[in-house]
Amino acid sequence: MTQSEHEDAASSADVIGELIAQLGADVVTLPDAFGSRNFADWSGVPGALPRALIRPRNTVDVARALAICQRHRQPVVTQGGLTGLAGGACLCGGEVALSLERMNAIESIDTVSGTMTVQAGTPLQTVQDAALAAGWFFPLDLGARGSCTIGGNLATNAGGNRVIRYGMMRDQVLAVEAVCADGAVIGELQPMLKNNCGYDTKNLLIGSEGTLAVLTRAVLRLRPRPRSVATAWCGLADYAAVTRLLTVAQAELPAGVSAFEVMWPGYYDFVLDRLPALRAPLAQRHAFYVLLESTGGDAARHAEDFENVLADLLEDGTVTDAAIASNERDALAFWAIRDAPGEYPKLIPGMVAFDISFSIAQIGEVAQRCEAALKTRWPDCVALVYGHLGDGNLHVVVHRPDISNETAREIEALVYDLTREYNGSVSAEHGIGLKKRDVLGHTRKPEHVRSMRAIKAALDPCNILNPHKLFGTD
Ligand code: LAC
Ligand code: ZN
Repeated sequence: MTQSEHEDAASSADVIGELIAQLGADVVTLPDAFGSRNFADWSGVPGALPRALIRPRNTVDVARALAICQRHRQPVVTQGGLTGLAGGACLCGGEVALSLERMNAIESIDTVSGTMTVQAGTPLQTVQDAALAAGWFFPLDLGARGSCTIGGNLATNAGGNRVIRYGMMRDQVLAVEAVCADGAVIGELQPMLKNNCGYDTKNLLIGSEGTLAVLTRAVLRLRPRPRSVATAWCGLADYAAVTRLLTVAQAELPAGVSAFEVMWPGYYDFVLDRLPALRAPLAQRHAFYVLLESTGGDAARHAEDFENVLADLLEDGTVTDAAIASNERDALAFWAIRDAPGEYPKLIPGMVAFDISFSIAQIGEVAQRCEAALKTRWPDCVALVYGHLGDGNLHVVVHRPDISNETAREIEALVYDLTREYNGSVSAEHGIGLKKRDVLGHTRKPEHVRSMRAIKAALDPCNILNPHKLFGTD
């Protein structure tokens, strides 16, 4: 060992000792006490175990922990509900894990302003329920709602099913508090929509995947609670009809469109075939299926408006066939078809999954070319195509029997090359993490990546916050 390697090793042993001394053995636990605790997210990336687990009780604990880690150059991976799909919360080896699970309080709800101040470890569903109980509505929603946390939603700028109406996570937040790599606490928790005082640090930290700071608290923006929900399952003949349905529904439905989920027949046939609990909403097969939802005001008028708009679309041939949910159970049955990906780990282990986005106008063509290219190259592959079409977001899931790593890489190359050709994004809503860092350049120009690296170097000069993520190894 060289002298500097000796110093590094000594420092690395010291850091754990200092963390325990400063924060206590209750906050900092060591591997022999982890038991069977899981440290990997849902991405399938095999994660390493951390050197220690830090579970701070408050922002001051986070600040003290980071100051110590920076002094010792100890890498830190912040973890929330571990439901991420890009490996952003996985450990590469040698890090400490910082879990915000104890910082899970709703600190206050202001029912006049429509705001909620929460700690970052609060599960999304807890926030949704508390908003409803207070007579308001928190619109962000995704399948992992019971496990994912507000901090993880912020770190990835989570999207989900209602983006078309309410926007992504950044649109649900008025202010954030965060701890920088050196332990400095930044962000004023001011509960107002308008606040233009220089650089928008809040929006820089949202979506930064734990690489710039640790988000600790947030002021969330609540919305009026919708008084009614109308849901329909539509069958359509071609992509032009799908986009026409979207345009007309947005223009004609007085309450607007709150979800517009599209499924290609390969997806629909696969999930209906494999999951016996699912029921086909329509008698016939169609070239496209759309789950259309509108959340609105007055219940009786809303249902009537929804039916009238759909009746016109059926009459002019835009929609070939449609089933309108007559109660919540029907609506849940439609959503169960769209939420089937929750069963993928059981149905298709070893899948290669994509979260890409394009202009809405181009998606029909991209999906067709993608499916055709995959089937030509691997005739025995399964390709499931679906997504949040109203947001230009496609999910493509590919599988073939006994898939090797090499084939998986080839499938990725095919889909990401097509994504680049159409000027799309390699990550619409799941983030870059570890899984997509090699294709960041497909979507971000070298100059752009340089500016991102400059920001990273300015805010985390010792590269201790989630190193290896986003950019790969320096
Ligand atoms: C979905 C998640 C995987 O939309 O983004 O199903
Ligand atoms: Zn999605």
